[in-house]
Formats: sequence, structure tokens, C-alpha cells
Amino acid sequence: MSFKKSIIGTTTALLCAFAFNASAEAIKIKFSHVVAENTPKGQMALKFKELVESRLAGKVEVDVFPNSQLFGDNKVLEAMQLGDVQLAAPSLSKFDKYTKKLQIFDLPFLFSDIQAVDRFQQSAAGEKLLNSMSRKGLHGLGYLHNGMKQLSSSSPLSVPSDVIGKKFRIMTSDVLAAQFEAVEAVPVKKPFSEVFTLLQTKAIDGQENTWSNIYSKKFFEVQDFITESDHGVLDYLVVTSKEFWTSLPDDIRDELKVSIDEAIKYGNSIAIEKAEQDKQKIIDSNRSTIIYLSKEERQEWVNAMQPVWKQFESEIGKDLIDAAIASN
Ligand code: SIN
Repeated sequence: MSFKKSIIGTTTALLCAFAFNASAEAIKIKFSHVVAENTPKGQMALKFKELVESRLAGKVEVDVFPNSQLFGDNKVLEAMQLGDVQLAAPSLSKFDKYTKKLQIFDLPFLFSDIQAVDRFQQSAAGEKLLNSMSRKGLHGLGYLHNGMKQLSSSSPLSVPSDVIGKKFRIMTSDVLAAQFEAVEAVPVKKPFSEVFTLLQTKAIDGQENTWSNIYSKKFFEVQDFITESDHGVLDYLVVTSKEFWTSLPDDIRDELKVSIDEAIKYGNSIAIEKAEQDKQKIIDSNRSTIIYLSKEERQEWVNAMQPVWKQFESEIGKDLIDAAIASN
């Protein structure tokens, strides 16, 4: 090969490499969720975007879609398996189709408070659950808190007999269905995006949710009563697809994981305070009457709902339930 030809060849190769680099597209991450932005999950997602776009500027772009704008909670995991969304944080009750193990978080009156939930999530047993859906192509990245659930209703609820025959919207979890059946209520599985309208039109009588969701989605404006029951937890699993996660260059994946951990820490740090603030805003609104249970009334709910643990013990595992109890 002549010297001239070799120079032309080398220059062309360099130009091609340069052109490739210049046009190398940033990795795009779509983060889809169903709640409002002023919630622990909404804030966590925005913090993640902020961290990633300052640390991996030009290499990774994050688009956050709140309020079920991109996918509702019944569709997001299927979309993730198809590669249409890269990050989500569905509530732990919405993985029923993918693993029975995460149902542990739905057992009524299992955790005494959110601190106990946190201790369990950080334990070896809790950490192991993060990857309980590996065979379904889903990779758990971390737990995120929202808070303890309360019961809202169009009529006052103090004891279990108050809910007999009443319709309650639940997330897609068989444990939650059993929980309402245990008190002779009628569970109705519906997506989060439909709850407000179902309540407003009185198609259902009530629902269970956290202070943050009841406030940010205005459920308190269409429910006359909220019973502070703290009967269960509503937390999240930040999740991605195994295919997407393993396709990332090592350095990018490491940086994304650090940013997710930091964003989760931030979300968790505001969750408890947010629950208190949102509860107070509901009280101040005078739109809904808050019912506080006496010790005896609360015990009636525990007695009625706790048999659900036994019903799901073989699916969840007794060891896991014992580990959760130990975290109290
Ligand atoms: C969420 O907090 O992501 C939604 C909870 C629900 O479906 O009730």
C-alpha cells in the first residue's frame, strides 16, 4: 500500500470513529410511576433524574412520567419486560403476578410501624427478596417507603362489622382481597388512576391508602371519613429489567446504582414527615372526619384480619413471616 493510500485510510477511519462518538446517543431512561410529584415516590424519581443528569451529563438522560401518564400500574411491568420503560417503582402489592414472596408486605398488622418495615427490608431476608423475580426478567434495585395505610370510607368505620357488605378498592393483590374478605367486605381490584372517580361516583364505598396518596390524589375530598388504622404498609420496589440493566456499560451501571441509592435515601428521609404533614392538611381541610381507634377497637380489627397470615403462610414461607415479626 502506498504512503498516500495509507494516510487516506487512517484519516477515514479516524473520521468515522469521531463521527460515531459524536453521534453516540445518550442512554435514555424512562421512569414511569402513578403518583403525584409531591409524594415520596414523585420526589425520589425527580431526585434520581437530577443526580444522573449532573453526574452522567450527555451519557444518560432520564424522563420521569408521573400520574400514570405513560403506563398505569397494571401495565408498567409488562412494558418493562418489552423494553418500553426502564425504571418503575410499583407498590409491593403489584408484583403478585411475578412472585408470591413479596405478598409478605400485604399481610395485615404484620409490621408495627414503618421503622419495623425498614428493619425487615434491610435484613438479609429482606435483601434477598429484591431478586425474587429474577426468573421473570425483573431486577429489584431497592425499597422505597411511602407509609402505613389508613381506611377511607363514605361511612364511619370503627369496628370490623362497620364494613360488612361494603365495596373497597384494592391493589392487585390476593392478600389484600383476603384481608377485606376476612371482615366480610367486598374487595374490588382497580388501578390507582381510577380510584378518585370510583369514590366520587360512589361505585365503591371506600379504599385503603397512605396519608400521602389520600391527600395528593384528593381522595379526602370525596370520602367523609378516614380511620387511622395503620393496618398495613404501602411501600415500593424500585425495579428495572434484567436485560436493560445487564446491557449497560459497567461504569454507567455503577453510577446509576449509586444515584438510585441516594435518591431512595432522599425519598425515605421525607416519607415519614410527609405522612404527618399530609394528614394535618387533611385535618385542616375539614373535608373528612378522622376516626381514631381505641385500643380495644384496633384489637378487633387485628383479630378479624390476622387469620389471613395462615392462609398465605405456605406461599410466602413461615421463615419469612417470622423474620418480619422479629423486626418489630
Ligand atoms: C402508589 O402509591 O404507587 C399507588 C398505590 C395504589 O395503587 O393505591
